[in-house]
Order: sequence, then structure tokens, then C-alpha cells
Amino acid sequence: MSVFSGKKILLGVSGGIAAYKAAELVRLMVTEGAIVRVVMTEAATQFITPLTLEALSGSKVHRHLFDPLEESAMNHIDLARWADLILIAPASADLLARLRGGHADDLLTTLCLATNAPLWVAPAMNRVMWEHPATKENIDTLRSRGIHLLGPDQGIQACGESGPGRLLEPGLILKALEQAFGAGPWAGLRLLISAGPTREPIDPVRYLSNRSSGKMGYALAEAAQQQGAVVTLISGPTALSPPKVDHFIEVETAKDMLEAVLHHASSADMFIGSAAVADYAPNMAPQKIKKETSTLTLELYKTVDIIGQVSSLDDRPFTVGFAAETENLEAHARLKLKHKALDLIAANHVGDHQGFEVDDNELMVFWEGGQRFLPRAHKTQLAAELLTLILERYHASHST
Ligand code: PMT
Repeated sequence: MSVFSGKKILLGVSGGIAAYKAAELVRLMVTEGAIVRVVMTEAATQFITPLTLEALSGSKVHRHLFDPLEESAMNHIDLARWADLILIAPASADLLARLRGGHADDLLTTLCLATNAPLWVAPAMNRVMWEHPATKENIDTLRSRGIHLLGPDQGIQACGESGPGRLLEPGLILKALEQAFGAGPWAGLRLLISAGPTREPIDPVRYLSNRSSGKMGYALAEAAQQQGAVVTLISGPTALSPPKVDHFIEVETAKDMLEAVLHHASSADMFIGSAAVADYAPNMAPQKIKKETSTLTLELYKTVDIIGQVSSLDDRPFTVGFAAETENLEAHARLKLKHKALDLIAANHVGDHQGFEVDDNELMVFWEGGQRFLPRAHKTQLAAELLTLILERYHASHST
């Protein structure tokens, strides 16, 4: 049976071009067995007709605060009490501002004030509006009040610009809600994780790489998915089968990984950098290098520190790094924690059948003001233990 079966969802639709996607959202929720009632703002009706949402939800669309007919069918307080969950998709910049201000100047904002149900919002707006300090402040305040944020996504926008601000696809919104209704300590959290090695081409046939098999990162991605997270896994080349996660993105070089990670970082709640990213890469020769000399010197250039870039984003996710060391584990890990401005770092010994390639591992985990040892165990078990600790620290950092 679907977790949506019999669940009462109040869908708020505000004004924006993405309002047309509300139709697909309603269809998906109803197909899953949810009972959906739709509330539209006046602006939303400029983008999609109430009739469409009425037909798909099988229920009259609510629009007006003071309409005696609507109030007699179900008054706004009853509607606010009726909902198991309120979802606003799309949520415009104006709606977010009014929610933050505690306004009650239309039916939707009044319901949000009058409800005890969890409130989920999926913003959609032009990139510049999303990045405006006013919108950022509104989002921060709403989040600090416990409102759940879904997206926005990145990409080409209706206005022709490209960047963050697209409504999260209805299928992904549904997935996040599924986790809200379902079980799992990671429900509702979006995890971005990197895994495996990178390959840095020397010429069209040769590359530099390292011993990472991807096992540790894949185990973390799978465990988080099982515990309810929405998982995006960005993986370098491995011999493993792709795990069952929401998004699986394959990359090859450190540069590819940097681009993919930065593309998804702002819409993640958490980033775990478990990939063994090349620290240096050569400039690729256009043709196969011939063995004409007895020695060959390669000039290597430092790659960009991916995790360092993530942790310096304005809207950074909670950022977890790994440290792979052959000596002075604690000292090196602590330095990386500080220099890369991480929230937490998991350090492992590597080399001599340790850390890399093998099925088991042990971790020493450090964060500002604390540390914990996770003893040797199969990487699947260790992943579950590390996720529990990460979640503990994530919640601790969000409660201060
Ligand atoms: O894949 P397995 O075979 O299961 O092995 C697991 C593992 C040993 C690869 C894993 O547990 C691990 O330690 N991963 C990190 C490996 C590594 O590159 O560590 P580092 O100490 O060199 O880097 C520190 C951190 O910076 C890491 O989070 C790394 O992802 C990140 N980094 C490094 C270089 C770079 N250019 N960009 C980065 O983001």
C-alpha cells in the first residue's frame, strides 16, 4: 500500500509560470491514493485554470477567504485542521515573503497561519529573485520555523535565464513527501555524495587515478536512501553496479566532478565528499605519447578542491569530508577539517589493504569540539553508523 493512501494533502498553488506543473503533481498524488484539496491564490489562476485542478483532484478548488459558498462547504479553519500536510508548489517569492511576515490576506496564507500540519514549500521563481537577499532571509526564517523546503532546482528557466529557481520536478516532490509520511531518520533530507576515484587523462589512452573502488561511498549512498534521504550520487569510474538512489551521475575527471557537485550543492541539505579526487592532473596530450625517450616527465597541475568550494558557498550544505592518510591520521584529519571549513571529517588509514578497495574499514571521526571512533566493520555497517553520527551532528548544528 502506498504511504499516500488516505493522506489528506492540501496543495497551495501560487502565481508563477510553474503553476502548470501543479496539475501533474495533483495527478501523481491522487494516483498514489492521497485525498487532495487545492487552494489557489488569485495570481495562480492567471497561469492555470481552477477547473483543471478541480477535475484532477475530484474536489472543488478553494480560492476565496470570504466566499459564503466556499465557507459553508468547509470553512477555512476546518480546512486548516483537515490537512495532514500542506504543500505549496509552486511557492512564489511574494508568497514566501507573506508567509515569513505572518500575513493572512488571502485564503492560502490564512490557512498556513491557522494550521498545525507540517508545511512544505517548493519555491519557483526567476534566478535573480531567488538569489535576492530578501528572498534568502525569508527562506532562512521560514526554515528556522521548521518549514520544509523542496528545491528549487537548477536549469533553464521560463524567462530564458539559467540557474537556481526552477520548481522541483513533481516526481521528486512526491518522493520527498513519501519520505515525510514514511519512516526513516533521513526523511526529507537531500544528500549529495561523491564516491570513487577520478581519472585524469595523460593522453587519449592513458590516465592517472587511484585505488578507490567506490565501495565506501556507494554504501553510504545506499544506506541514506534506505533511511529516507533523497540521494544524488556523483561517482567516478568504478566496477560496481549503480546503487538504487534517486540520481546517479557518472563523471570521469576531477573537473567533471567539480562541475557536477557544484551544480547540485545548493539544493542539497548535506554533502558527503567520499570520493578520492585527484589532487593533481596533467594537461592531456592530444595524441598517444610515443616512447621515444628513456624518461618522461609529466607536469601536473593542482586540481580545484571540490569540497572546499562547497563549504565556501553562501548557502552551503552541511559538509562532511573524508581524510585518507598513510600516517599521522588525527593531525592531518584535523588540519583538513579546519582548512576545508568542514562540519565533520571521517578519517581512515589507507594503503596496505586498508581503506581502499577492501570490504571493511574503520573510521576516526572529528568535528569541532568532538570526536568518535567507529571500529572496524563491513563498509555497509560502517556506513549506517557514520550516517547516524552525521545526522546527530547535523541536528545539533541546526538547533544552535
Ligand atoms: O572507495 P573505497 O575503495 O571504498 O575507499 C574508500 C576511501 C578510502 C576512498 C574513502 O574512505 C576516503 O577516504 N575517501 C576520501 C579520499 C581522499 O581523497 O581523501 P583526501 O584526504 O585526499 O581528501 C580530503 C577530502 O577532500 C575528501 O573529502 C576529498 O573528497 C576532498 N577533495 C580532495 C581533493 C580535491 N581536489 N577535491 C576534494 O573535494
